[in-house]
Amino acid sequence: MSPADARTVATGLVTTDTWGTFSHGTSLLAHYVTSLRAGGIDARAQPEVVEEGPVWAVLDGHAAMGMVSSSRAMELAIAKARTTTFSWVGLRNSNHFGAAGYYAVMATQQDMIGAALSNVDPNMSVPGARGSVIGNNPLAYAVPCDADFPVFLDIATSAVAASKIMTLKSLGQDLPGDYLADSEGLPTNKVGTWPVGSSLMPMAGHKGYGIAFLIEVLTSVLAGAGVLSASKSWILSPPEHGNLGHCFMAFNIGNIMPIEVFKQRMRELSREIHEAPKAKGSNRVYLPGEMECERRAEALRNGIDFPEWVKASLRGVARDFQITPCPGLE
Ligand SMILES: NC(=O)c1ccc[n+]([C@@H]2O[C@H](COP(=O)([O-])OP(=O)(O)OC[C@H]3O[C@@H](n4cnc5c(N)ncnc54)[C@H](O)[C@@H]3O)[C@@H](O)[C@H]2O)c1
Repeated sequence: MSPADARTVATGLVTTDTWGTFSHGTSLLAHYVTSLRAGGIDARAQPEVVEEGPVWAVLDGHAAMGMVSSSRAMELAIAKARTTTFSWVGLRNSNHFGAAGYYAVMATQQDMIGAALSNVDPNMSVPGARGSVIGNNPLAYAVPCDADFPVFLDIATSAVAASKIMTLKSLGQDLPGDYLADSEGLPTNKVGTWPVGSSLMPMAGHKGYGIAFLIEVLTSVLAGAGVLSASKSWILSPPEHGNLGHCFMAFNIGNIMPIEVFKQRMRELSREIHEAPKAKGSNRVYLPGEMECERRAEALRNGIDFPEWVKASLRGVARDFQITPCPGLE
């Protein structure tokens, strides 16, 4: 991978770690290396614009690293929205792009509202079905608020993200709720042999399913990527090109109202939410993204407080490449 592309990937993963979203930061490196070696991800490939209008574009990722193609696609969405106010950029033939929020937040750095969506190979059940039918397609939006604190929501559309179930499985624990559908399509809190034989449940039932469906349309169908089972799992099938689809949207606020007026209105919105009466036992209400921004500020001051499982994963990658782990990782 070129040094510039490697830097793009590193920036995405480390930024995600600073938010405390360790499931989608540098812990992914070991899986990416497996897929790069097996041929599912092409380290040298570069994304290419294959269709374009003033407000939109479609890129072919040519199986490049998801973060390389996705960062370019979001940059293009931002560039287009400067003049067109709104833009949509689809990306096909892509791979796992990490945390959707990373790309949405890129738009806020240019005083725009950003959104990033992806399809995922089917790993989630839908109401009435048995087995995995659709992916737990993630979605993120980010809104500029003031200089160092965008508001952003960055979520999977399953009741609980797969990485969290993986952690409980490794600890041999049951789930705190019925977050899986068993082999008969019925809700269960037992991890059992998951991901074989059971599927993620959609968040809020038909509502999460409906949102995952819209994301499938805006990413795989509209961008020309693998729809549902035509997209492949980068974890379960490392040699295969995933042919995932993503899309990136930007809204140029400054073309609609002066950015300072918008930020002032965002401050008023935030204040009213922060000042909401607190539930029993609660002393604080957070905005979406606020916890991540506070963790990031702390990480920038004092370093990232990695959990032991992430350190162990990074040590494994270092051993693999015969690199001496940096201080703090040994
Ligand atoms: N690339 C992929 O294929 C893929 C697939 C699924 C998920 N993901 C990523 O997994 C990550 C985790 O997803 P998740 O579904 O576990 O997220 P989650 O359930 O941990 O929710 C995180 C979001 O909810 C907000 N939030 C949490 N508690 C809050 C509170 N009390 N008040 C206000 N806001 C609050 C956070 O600020 C954040 O935006 C995301 O980064 C997502 O993009 C990626």
